Amino acid sequence: CQRQDGRPSKQRLLVVANRLPVSAIRRGEDSWQLEVSAGGLVTALLGLKEFDAKWIGWAGVNVPDEVGQRALTNALAEKRCIPIFLDEEMVHQYYNGYCNNILWPLFHYLGIPQEDRLATTRSFQSQFDAYKKANQMFAEVVKEHYKEGDVVWCHDYHLMFLPKYLKEYNNKMKVGWFLHTPFPSSEIHRMLPSRSELLRSVLAADLVGFHTYDYARHFVSACTRILGLEGTPEGVEDQGKLTRVAAFPIGIDYERFIRALELPQVQNHMKELKQRFAGRKVMLGVDRLDMIKGIPQKILAFEKFLEENPHWRDRVVLLQIAVPTRTDVPEYQKLTSQVHEIVGRINGKFGTLTAVPIHHLDRSLDFHALCALYAITDVALVTSLRDGMNLVSYEFVACQASNKGVLILSEVQHSLLGLGLFW
Ligand code: ADP
Ligand code: G6P
Repeated sequence: CQRQDGRPSKQRLLVVANRLPVSAIRRGEDSWQLEVSAGGLVTALLGLKEFDAKWIGWAGVNVPDEVGQRALTNALAEKRCIPIFLDEEMVHQYYNGYCNNILWPLFHYLGIPQEDRLATTRSFQSQFDAYKKANQMFAEVVKEHYKEGDVVWCHDYHLMFLPKYLKEYNNKMKVGWFLHTPFPSSEIHRMLPSRSELLRSVLAADLVGFHTYDYARHFVSACTRILGLEGTPEGVEDQGKLTRVAAFPIGIDYERFIRALELPQVQNHMKELKQRFAGRKVMLGVDRLDMIKGIPQKILAFEKFLEENPHWRDRVVLLQIAVPTRTDVPEYQKLTSQVHEIVGRINGKFGTLTAVPIHHLDRSLDFHALCALYAITDVALVTSLRDGMNLVSYEFVACQASNKGVLILSEVQHSLLGLGLFW
C-alpha cells in the first residue's frame, strides 16, 4: 500500500473494545473532560503506533440527551475514538451483569454467583440477551466505519459475539479477537449455559489470541470437548475452515516510563515522596479494586508481618492505591467495604498519633505521580489470585532503573512475568 508521496501508508486498524482509552466526565451541557482510562487493556494498546488506528467503544457514561452525545462524539473524534451510547438498562444487564458478574468471575475461576446460577434463570437469560444485543450494536458501528482492507481487532470477554456478527455481514473482513483475561479450563467453561454459542462466535474470527500458551490450549480444548471440533497445531478446524489460535503476551510501552522519569515534575515528586517517607521502607500496591487482585489478602499479610516483626512497625509503610472499578456490581461493593474495614482495623491497631502503617487511596493516580511512586518504592506487592497479564509488575520494573527495589509476585504471576520480560 503506497501513499501519493511514495511512502508506504500505515495499515488501517479498527480497534473495538468495550472500554475506550479515554473516559469522559461531563462538565456542562455540551462540554466534556477526557482522562486516560485505567486498566490493562488500555495500557497495553497505548503502545500501538504502527497502525492508522481508530478505536470504537462504549462511551462509559450515560448520556441520554442528543446535545451531550453530539458534543462527546466530537470531543472523542479528536482522539480518534468513536463512542457507542448504551442506555442504563443495557449497561446494567450487559456490562454489570453478563460481563462483570458472570464472565469475569468465571474466567478467573471464581465461579458463577449462586443467585444467577440457581434462582434467577430469567435474569441470566435477560443478561445474555442484552450481551448479544450490545454486541450487535458494536457490530453496527463497525460496519459504519469499515472500509475495504481494514483490519478489525476485537477485544476481550465483552465482545465474544462480535466476530460472528462481523463475518455474517462481510465474510472477507479480516477479524481478530484477543482475550485480556485468562481463558479457563474447559471444565470451568462448561459451567456456562451459553458455552457453545460463545465459542462458535469467537471461532468466526480469522485469528484468536491469548496472553499465554496455556490460555490458548484451554480454548482449543474447550472447542474440541464442548463443540466436538478438531484441534490442530495452528488452531481449530470446523468443516474445512481453520481459525488460527495463538499466544501473544502483551507488554507495556517501556520507553514511555523511562522518559517520564527524566521529567522535572516527576523528579520533584520523587524528592517529596522520599522526604515524606524518610526512614521507612515503602511497600506499594497499585490495583483496580477487583477481587482477582488479592487486595484483602495482601493487607492481611502485611498485618501478619507487623504482628510477627514488632521492630518493623515504625520502619515500614504500605501504600495501596486502589482505583474503584465496576462500582455498580454488588461483589465489588462488598469488596470495597471489606478492604476499608481491614485497613481501618490495622491502622487503629498499629497507628500512632503521627503515623499510620497503611495509606489506602480509593482513586487513580495520574501517570507522572504513578511513575514517581514506582521509582521510590522499595517493595512492590502484586498479589493477584489469578490475572490475565498483570502490567503493574512491568511498570514497576521499568521505573526501577536506578533503585534496588524488590518485586513480590504471587505465584500465579511468575510465568506471566517471565513471558513478558524475555519475549
Ligand atoms: P487489569 O488489566 O486487571 O486492569 P493490569 O495490571 O494489567 O490490570 O493493568 C492495570 C493498569 O491500570 C496499569 O497500567 C496500571 O498502571 C493502571 N492502574 C491500576 N490502578 C491504578 C491506580 N490506582 N492509579 C492509576 N493507574 C492505575
Ligand atoms: C481488565 C479487562 C479490560 C477492562 C479493564 C478495566 O483489564 O480485561 O477489558 O477494560 O479490566 O475494567 P473496566 O470494566 O473498567 O473497563
